[in-house]
Amino acid sequence: MPLVRLDIHSFRNIRLATLTTDPGINLILGPNASGKTSLLEAIFILGRGQSFRSSRLAEVVNKDAKDMIVSGHISLNGRTIPVGMGFHQGQKQIRLAGRTLQSRAELLQIFPLQLLQPDLYDLLEGGPKARRQFLDWGVFYAQPEYLSLWRSYQRALGQRNALLKSGNRSTLPFWTQELAKYGKILSQHRFDYLTVLQEPLTMMARQLGFEGGFELKYLQGWPQGKDLESALEDDLQRDQKYGFTHSGPHRDDFTITWQGQPVKNFFSRGQMKLIVSTLAIVQASLIPIPCCLLIDDFTSELDQENQALLANLLVNLKEQIFITATHLTALDSIAKHAGQVFHISEGTIQGA
Ligand SMILES: Nc1ncnc2c1ncn2[C@@H]1O[C@H](COP(=O)(O)OP(=O)(O)OP(=O)(O)O)[C@@H](O)[C@H]1O
Ligand SMILES: [Mg+2]
Repeated sequence: MPLVRLDIHSFRNIRLATLTTDPGINLILGPNASGKTSLLEAIFILGRGQSFRSSRLAEVVNKDAKDMIVSGHISLNGRTIPVGMGFHQGQKQIRLAGRTLQSRAELLQIFPLQLLQPDLYDLLEGGPKARRQFLDWGVFYAQPEYLSLWRSYQRALGQRNALLKSGNRSTLPFWTQELAKYGKILSQHRFDYLTVLQEPLTMMARQLGFEGGFELKYLQGWPQGKDLESALEDDLQRDQKYGFTHSGPHRDDFTITWQGQPVKNFFSRGQMKLIVSTLAIVQASLIPIPCCLLIDDFTSELDQENQALLANLLVNLKEQIFITATHLTALDSIAKHAGQVFHISEGTIQGA
């Protein structure tokens, strides 16, 4: 049971709110521009330390206020842990169990969140960055050492690129070696993770009517059949000419196929929504501690039958879920399972 209480001060159009949240399904109902997505965003910020809508945190502060605070209580392994995220005098502050955190990694470990909203389509239709982020988020929970590995790789890549740009070659062999060392392990973790994901994806998608298997194919960020050292060696002249590293996991990608067909160009919008939602749900369900799902715009693109199928899947998950809609009838199939219903109007929340 992750989030048990939420307090919001001056966040977007929500000036002040206190919510007692349900460990199961929480519905958030309100007309357009009432603050539904803002409420999900406030919860997201509490778990991730950043927004999914604005890269500048100042934008989430209510337009008539200078500072904002979102705080809450997380229940984990029988303990209740206070968490908070504030923006004060232009500075972000993350608090956990009475301490100020320097990095948001600890927060991610306490309160995992998965967001399902229209941007999720980027996973199928957008560039590889969204897919690498998807992989990294999953592997972060699957492999305890992944974050420090990822940081070491990023450091080696940054140093190597800086050397390539500056023309200073003195430590290039060292950083190339570092890049290859961390890059190979990183790549192996991502490959393993995709392999693990494949079976539960196929099983869960079957409940939504997709017969036959899904294949998640890892595409390493350097030519197939080569090891990373050789690729870096072969690329040296090109890297020096352009001033950046061409080969490595920072160019990784993956594809999704169903019965041998690439999902991206083969599926309808509704089918794509079902399958990206399923991917996100499977990913959340593999996290060893409870993961909270934030679902915006649940009904869009889905017909009644598919809404009911997806709702059924969500209800059986036994995770905490926050789900928005403009009116209750849109959520018929899920409403009877809701433990809490919040009505929101012009930033004021009732039912809290
Ligand atoms: N910093 C801010 N201060 C005050 N209001 C803001 C701020 N940022 C956005 N808003 C306003 O908050 C309102 C609620 O936005 P939100 O996106 O949460 O609505 P919503 O209920 O999700 O609507 P929809 O059903 O259309 O998705 C909007 O009118 C928006 O313009
Ligand atoms: Mg919205």
